[in-house]
Amino acid sequence: MSNPTLGSIPFLDLITPHVELEQELTAVFSRALHTAGFVGGAAVDEFEKAFATFCGADHSIAVSSGTDALRFAIMACGVQRGDVVLTVPHTFIATTEAISQAGGIPEFIDIDERTYNMSPELLEQFLEERRVRNKAGKLISRRSGRPVTAVVPVHLYGQMADMDSILKLAGQYGLTVIEDACQAHGAEYFSKDLNRWMKAGSMGHAAAFSFYPGKNLGACGEGGAVTTNDSDVADKIRMLRDHGQVKKYYHDVEGYNGRLDAIQAGLLHAKLVHLDNWNLERRARAANYNLLLASIETVSVPYEPSWSHAVYHVYVIRTRNRDGMISHLKDAGIGTGIHYPIPLHLQNAYAFLDYAPGDFPAAEHASSEIVSLPMFPHLTAQQQARVADEILAFVSKTPHSGMAEEQEWWPSTSKAL
Ligand SMILES: Cc1ncc(COP(=O)(O)O)c(C=O)c1O
Repeated sequence: MSNPTLGSIPFLDLITPHVELEQELTAVFSRALHTAGFVGGAAVDEFEKAFATFCGADHSIAVSSGTDALRFAIMACGVQRGDVVLTVPHTFIATTEAISQAGGIPEFIDIDERTYNMSPELLEQFLEERRVRNKAGKLISRRSGRPVTAVVPVHLYGQMADMDSILKLAGQYGLTVIEDACQAHGAEYFSKDLNRWMKAGSMGHAAAFSFYPGKNLGACGEGGAVTTNDSDVADKIRMLRDHGQVKKYYHDVEGYNGRLDAIQAGLLHAKLVHLDNWNLERRARAANYNLLLASIETVSVPYEPSWSHAVYHVYVIRTRNRDGMISHLKDAGIGTGIHYPIPLHLQNAYAFLDYAPGDFPAAEHASSEIVSLPMFPHLTAQQQARVADEILAFVSKTPHSGMAEEQEWWPSTSKAL
């Protein structure tokens, strides 16, 4: 049971960073009150410029959520009604909602069980074996009989997918790549092809970010953004977010009310200044967890390949008796999460896609063993030590609750950060 003298440890502390920035943030609100600048205007323009610069992209278009960002990006990149869009089953449902709501049909590629991101090998296998070409030379999915036109890799948990490999395959097969970077603000990938580190949001044809409050860069409400280097795509998204209008009351297409409000833009701009530092703090916390948990054989820490600088939106460990561990930590007053407990191909919402258990073994296996530990920039070393102590206490009392023995490839520690 929880020891009241030790205090509880939240999964996420959203209060401290906001209280620390209280003056800057309330100044944004007061400026909006004094100018009545609530929608559009300089605050949105300035934030868009700053966020594009942060991501190393030519354009950023602020919208009302990450889901809208992804939906608009998919639409603006030319996905047509009935096109197949490839993505992973191990992600938040917003990824596939955005695909469906843009008119696409999601089809899944399993994850790499170490990085939890799209497996380039399985993407290649799909593109070589699970499609045909029609008379016009279009790539057709054998499963749905529909043209495959795009791929949405998700940079899950703050770590980028293997973008060189995915972009190469997409180039070979004529697919558009749209990054779901909703969990990866500031994450970096070393591109061997470009011989430099690239930021999330700068490699695909377009990328979507979420500013949901708990994200590495979070609004004080809802928000999102698309980044792209394609000015036509940027223009289309500006139209889509604003009722399809090119200028006031001239509507080229039917669009959406998908704008980011000016107060959120101002708040996000004030917080963006701190993002690099917060991401470094997260990486330091991840490195510390890796050390603290290194000696616990039945627990696996996150795997960070040499080409990745992850920003640890969440810190995910793996263990066989996941539910037992969560309940032990809960009793000790420690918050945890599961991201995510049911892969998308097994969700009721996607029964119509006709997938079955066993179709994506890596995603299914991961979803039954993952636990997200407390992770936020202000997490103290003392709190981390207590989390590790409680995990050790749990595995010591349940010695056979760890990883499957056949998983010899699993790294017991991640590389030093
Ligand atoms: C991977 C992923 N994609 C998309 C989204 C959607 O973002 P939002 O909640 O801002 O609509 C999220 C947010 O949780 C996410 O984690």
